[in-house]
Amino acid sequence: MNCQMINDFSCSDVLCKRAQQIIPGGAHTYSKGADQSPLLGPKFMDHGLAGHVWDVDGNEYIDWAMGLSSVSIGHCYEPVLSAVRAELARGSNFQCPSPKEVELAELFLREVPGAEMVKFAKNGSTVTTAAVKLARAYTGRKYVAYCSDHGFFSYDDWFMAKKPNNAGIPEEISNLSLTFRYNDMASVEELFATYPGQIACVILEPMEFDYPEDKFLHKIKNLCNRDGAVFVLDEMITGFRLAYPGAHRLLDIEADMTTWGKGVANGFSVCVLAGKKEILDLGGITHKKDRVFLISTTHGAEIHSLAAAIATINAVKSENSIERNTATGKVLQEAITKEIQKSGLTDFISIKGHPCWQLLQFRNGNKEFCDGYKTLVFQEFIKHGVLFRGSFVTTISHTEEDVQNTVSAFSSVLKVYSSALNSGGYEKHLVGDPVKPVFRKRN
Ligand SMILES: Cc1ncc(COP(=O)(O)O)c(C=O)c1O
Repeated sequence: MNCQMINDFSCSDVLCKRAQQIIPGGAHTYSKGADQSPLLGPKFMDHGLAGHVWDVDGNEYIDWAMGLSSVSIGHCYEPVLSAVRAELARGSNFQCPSPKEVELAELFLREVPGAEMVKFAKNGSTVTTAAVKLARAYTGRKYVAYCSDHGFFSYDDWFMAKKPNNAGIPEEISNLSLTFRYNDMASVEELFATYPGQIACVILEPMEFDYPEDKFLHKIKNLCNRDGAVFVLDEMITGFRLAYPGAHRLLDIEADMTTWGKGVANGFSVCVLAGKKEILDLGGITHKKDRVFLISTTHGAEIHSLAAAIATINAVKSENSIERNTATGKVLQEAITKEIQKSGLTDFISIKGHPCWQLLQFRNGNKEFCDGYKTLVFQEFIKHGVLFRGSFVTTISHTEEDVQNTVSAFSSVLKVYSSALNSGGYEKHLVGDPVKPVFRKRN
């Protein structure tokens, strides 16, 4: 690893200016935008290998963000690449389906017990929205309840309706979306009491960084069953990451439908809607009921991406990646916790979550969560060659050396954090503005 402090982002900055002129948001994903990065930080990446990435200025980083967590095994993981290469040479899209569609569907259903049918798409938003549509058609109801403590489900209206940046969504549509809090059963019960027999589905992640308490998921499922609503678990991030095949197994819960993506194809674009046949088959072409025009996209079953998914799922299993990632995550968690204790910052920095996906949280002098301090940590980590965006996503491509270098960088980061706390705030140490929430009304 390069021991010099990283401080040149000139190529990134030039690209950033060009992008802002011609791409709304300067990126095709809001959470990759320049407002999500410290000013002294890379805005454009050039390439990656295993657990490392290189920005367009040639700076190398240990990567704990892993492409918004979609690169679940490691950058350029050879068995996935060779499966992709083999298909690339044979064509990527035909008028008829490829046998790969059936092969991946069969593999998926073998590995995900309880699921009886699947439908593939390119984006997570497409499959969560498809779950909502199916639930509405299946129940004949219009309301959708989602967990407001979970980061993101879809850029479609049913989810964005309740966010501050919901311009362009008519009120009539917004009124159909309802929200509840994680681990707050009263908030779920209140929705069902207010809209009895009218909620089409409840959708949430099995967990983010907090584990379910007091059988929260089971209680929701029971309530859904009693009221006739569909119970949907979004395993986009947690699937093939927190447990095999997904967090629902870890938490011993089964849903009517599940949605998958970031753990499925190691950065290639494959997302999956899975679930009960009686619901998914409404999108079929042989039944006699009213037809649901389910997911139907030109690129949804791009063949080499399906090959990537097959190779990824096989690798996650054969490489015991979840056990190994858990072990790495535990070492990281223990070492990070020790560093926080050593520096006397336990009131200001905390770590939580499953070892494979852990969140660090940052507080200011008043012990309030603070984006300024969070951005300061991003900035200081970057100087030491660590790309950290709030959570640690561990993969089998991260080495012991990566962990050690990250912990040693963290110890330097904490010195700056302490100094900021003791000298009137992050402002003296942070160059530029704090990162901004993706969901905000105005820029
Ligand atoms: C839990 C969850 N569900 C759904 C989505 C939407 O996926 P996509 O960005 O592929 O549309 C995301 C994306 O971050 C997610 O984290």
